[in-house]
Amino acid sequence: MDTKILTEKEIQEAAAVIKEGGLVAFPTETVYGLGADALNEKAVAKVYEAKGRPSDNPMIVHIARASDIGQLTPRLSPDIVTLIENFWPGPLTLVVKRKEGVPDRTTGGLDTVGVRMPDSPIALELINWAGCPIAAPSANLSGKPSPTRFEDVVEDLDGKVDAIIKGPDCRVGIESTVLDVSGDTPTILRPGIITPENIEAAIGKKVAVDPALYVKRPENGSGGEEFKPKSPGMKYRHYAPKADMTVIEGNREQVKAEIQRLKALNERLGNKVGVILFEEKAFIEAAHNFFAQLRDLDRQNVDLILAGALSDTDGVGFAVMNRMLKSAGYNIVRV
Ligand code: TXA
Ligand code: MG
Repeated sequence: MDTKILTEKEIQEAAAVIKEGGLVAFPTETVYGLGADALNEKAVAKVYEAKGRPSDNPMIVHIARASDIGQLTPRLSPDIVTLIENFWPGPLTLVVKRKEGVPDRTTGGLDTVGVRMPDSPIALELINWAGCPIAAPSANLSGKPSPTRFEDVVEDLDGKVDAIIKGPDCRVGIESTVLDVSGDTPTILRPGIITPENIEAAIGKKVAVDPALYVKRPENGSGGEEFKPKSPGMKYRHYAPKADMTVIEGNREQVKAEIQRLKALNERLGNKVGVILFEEKAFIEAAHNFFAQLRDLDRQNVDLILAGALSDTDGVGFAVMNRMLKSAGYNIVRV
């Protein structure tokens, strides 16, 4: 397939592709998405195919006006209204009860649907011109790091989709926070830059965190394995670079020293080693750069990536750690 590269000025052309049931990769403020008409089963099926994505993994449906959530869900609780007022447009996905017209293909057969209104002008304009909600997973091949730059999308999807919109690098750099508000207790299914604390401050009540997000941390032993994540997409191998990857966790100075030691040791063995080490507490910057650094190290063909863990147990750093640990296949060294 010939993939058209479109500029910001050609959004109407991209929207026409979506209307006709085609696939368009486009920038959002979090990561690039691979979009299709959310209400067109055949179009959505093509997204799974292009990404090589398991078909039980539901997609997030993107809308351009907050009120359009009414097309997708039968009922808005006061909490949902408050969350929309506080966080939309922005990187918060709300999992709500779905209306019948939303295809099984889009929701992976669940009786809920994930909805978000992105705050990227290009994304909003695309949805507006298309005139339909757009289902969009991250625009990477399944299993690879999420794409935060135009060139990352080209690397994965050129030849597999109808069009790619060339936009700026994504501001946030990790995917949206996924919050399940379909039941009694709002529950974080995927951590993101909007934290439980932010959400609690808005709705004035405690937010739960899916226990599956704590699995496989060494302090939990192997017991965490029994948690089945509530968000289907959280169970697959994810964000994986080509290189082997190890996360080094512990006191900052010791982490730095251990990285230097392992680096030197591996280089003596003839391995090319890449290091990911963010400034202490620079969590927003870490979120912005993490996936891009993984992809850059892959391009440099390193054999091993050594990454310093971020010390944060619930905020933005925790969201980055969720991705970092998955990328490393939970390969953790404690110092
Ligand atoms: O920032 C983002 O959310 C990006 C951009 C493109 O908007 N999209 C994205 O989509 O990250 P994706 O498909 O890569 O991740 C969607 C996540 C998956 O973990 C999926 O299982 C979960 O959201 N999800 C979607 N709908 C759900 C539902 N109804 N119930 C539970 N989890 C859901
Ligand atoms: Mg994804």
